[in-house]
Amino acid sequence: MPSQPYSGGNIDLQHHVDATWNKARATTFRLPHSTVETPIFMPVGTQASVKGLTSEQLAEINCSIVLGNTFHLALRPGEDTLDQLGGIQKFMSWPRAVLTDSGGFQMVSLLELSKLTEEGVWFQSPMDGKDMLLSPERSIAIQNKIGADIIMALDDVVSSTTTGPRVEEAMYRTIRWLDRCWNAHERKHDQALFGIVQGGLDYKWRDICLEELVKRDLPGYAIGGLAGGEDKKLFWRMVNRCTDKLPMNKPRYCMGVGYPVDLIVCVALGADMFDCVYPARTARFGTALTWDGTLKIKAASMIRDYGPLDKQCPCKVCQQYSRSFLHVNFGRDETAAVHLLTYHNIAHISQLMKQLRTSIIDNTFPEVVRSMIHRYFQKEQ
Ligand code: GUN
Ligand code: ZN
Repeated sequence: MPSQPYSGGNIDLQHHVDATWNKARATTFRLPHSTVETPIFMPVGTQASVKGLTSEQLAEINCSIVLGNTFHLALRPGEDTLDQLGGIQKFMSWPRAVLTDSGGFQMVSLLELSKLTEEGVWFQSPMDGKDMLLSPERSIAIQNKIGADIIMALDDVVSSTTTGPRVEEAMYRTIRWLDRCWNAHERKHDQALFGIVQGGLDYKWRDICLEELVKRDLPGYAIGGLAGGEDKKLFWRMVNRCTDKLPMNKPRYCMGVGYPVDLIVCVALGADMFDCVYPARTARFGTALTWDGTLKIKAASMIRDYGPLDKQCPCKVCQQYSRSFLHVNFGRDETAAVHLLTYHNIAHISQLMKQLRTSIIDNTFPEVVRSMIHRYFQKEQ
């Protein structure tokens, strides 16, 4: 296995650690389409839109980077279309940054008939049923055309509850695929390729993966294969191990994490970037995220509750609409309440990250975390 730092015209993110509190960090880095201040939550816009929100609304809630999925975008509208339009940012009328995930994780989790080989992931096209191969080279070629600011290496992901030799195999394959991704990457100057640390819940495999990835000196690193229903203690321990060994001067992206408490813990452990469908998905099920925990908008008690979702939330929804209105309008064929809940939930997570950042800078991180946790768990509404 090669162990040289990758070289050649790499993008300079001008990464800066603004402040730290123990392992927690506030950092800033520059991407072609925006400057990102961390800790940051990236809403998931699988198909070039965050379900239920327009790009203007995302900008309104101070979102600086959103996530897209290579697999979904390659199917529709297709990478050539995105390339011709001048990139995904143009297509979605979003002037800020985008990160695309490589596709392997989505395929393995979404398509039962996908088959994994050393070449890549074989799957049947949902469009015409033909056998197709998503190889590391193909994933990067597609991501080069989609044009996101950050692109992800294709990784071999196993469920976090898998044990045995498959975990080791997937970890080594992830490193081999990373080298193939790097060699295939044709836009090193303006797209940052992040490698993904795999290795399940075993320090031994995580450590090997970390060592190999760090040697390669990538523009940034992701922690993968977690937040899949494993014991929380093990999940946090793995994040801690990874942040212990990842370089200070590169962004660290903890994949698939979006519950408020997990975000707080992972920020405390030194992770910078996060993504998750949770805030948007839970809104579609009628759950609002508030500083006092979750709130079920369908509960009968909401009918005569004329207050906002969250008294402290400065978002437009909380300024303009009552719980009662959202309750009455939630469900059936009426989707306005779902949009409003989604808006508020993403705004809430974005405020959470901003407060954590501010507290790291102001040296008040422990007090802020303590009071957040206290309130999240104090009462059910
Ligand atoms: N999203 C959540 N977890 C993962 C992971 O381990 N790999 C990839 N590529 N995407 C993810
Ligand atoms: Zn709100």
